[in-house]
Amino acid sequence: MSESKLGLKLKEQFKGKDFLKISDYTKEELTDLINYAIELKEMQKSGVPHELLKGKTLAMIFEKSSIRTRVSFETGIIQLGGHALFLSKDDVHSGEAVSDTAEVLSRYVDGIMIRTFGHDIVDELAVNASIPIINGLTDDSHPCQVLADLLTIYEQKGTFENLKLAYVGDGNNVSQSLIMGCAIMGIDCYVAGPKNNEVKSEIIEKAKAKAKESGAQIIETNDPVVAAENADIIYTDVWTSMGWQGDKTNRLKEFEGYQVNEALAKHAKADYIFMHCLPAVRGEEVAKEVIDGSNSVVFDQAENRLHAQKSVMATSM
Ligand code: CP
Ligand code: NVA
Repeated sequence: MSESKLGLKLKEQFKGKDFLKISDYTKEELTDLINYAIELKEMQKSGVPHELLKGKTLAMIFEKSSIRTRVSFETGIIQLGGHALFLSKDDVHSGEAVSDTAEVLSRYVDGIMIRTFGHDIVDELAVNASIPIINGLTDDSHPCQVLADLLTIYEQKGTFENLKLAYVGDGNNVSQSLIMGCAIMGIDCYVAGPKNNEVKSEIIEKAKAKAKESGAQIIETNDPVVAAENADIIYTDVWTSMGWQGDKTNRLKEFEGYQVNEALAKHAKADYIFMHCLPAVRGEEVAKEVIDGSNSVVFDQAENRLHAQKSVMATSM
């Protein structure tokens, strides 16, 4: 197959580059990755072979559970002509130095996707590996999700200009990457969370600094209605992320009043889209009527994980 002009340019630019956090990328770079994901999506939909990673291997380390990330990465690399190795938390030696794992895997495979707890683990892997490292979620970030979300927003709205996104809920990994993605792309982002569960102030400050270049507004509030008012996009995520399950009873109380339901969604524009990275808990962070309603694009988001990650793998590996 012949590679597109954009594909060739991005390979040159991103060969060997880690995909660790959204803030490592400029607006132009994210736009290019999204446009390349659109090209790959069109090829896949129309049955055009695109074996850009023929014979390459991706190791996938999962220290937390997953459906979307695992299946989209594994399917994605197969569509690109390569194959994936799945390593669960039981397959990885808990006592082995991350740097040794990085060195050893670099001798066997062509890229590593890792889902883990501390972001420092991903950074350490990246420093010590000679192959690209892709962050498949840490306690602090979920950049692959947000790349797919930006692709979904672009498909749904046709632009990143003049959009208001309301993030309602927990100040967690997904929200931190999402706010940064909005700040870079120029999407106004209103973040509404309950007291003591807000997005960390250093993340908000970093996003505001990025937003200075794009012109986006980053606004924090404890009032979901202020966030949802006239929004083009309402986004939420679970109130209890992986690793925090022990705290669930308290969290249900703390998040009372922060559910995205029809009463809240009425404040948004009539053509607003509802987004959620999934998995979702209907009746907690989102009402069934909203996530299963006609404004919901959650399954487009899930599908776009495949295309967005193929863009990252094909250009870096
Ligand atoms: N959104 C997401 O990352 O889903 P999984 O946890 O199923 O991979
Ligand atoms: N915030 C959630 C996202 C899951 C994809 C978690 O970390 O569990």
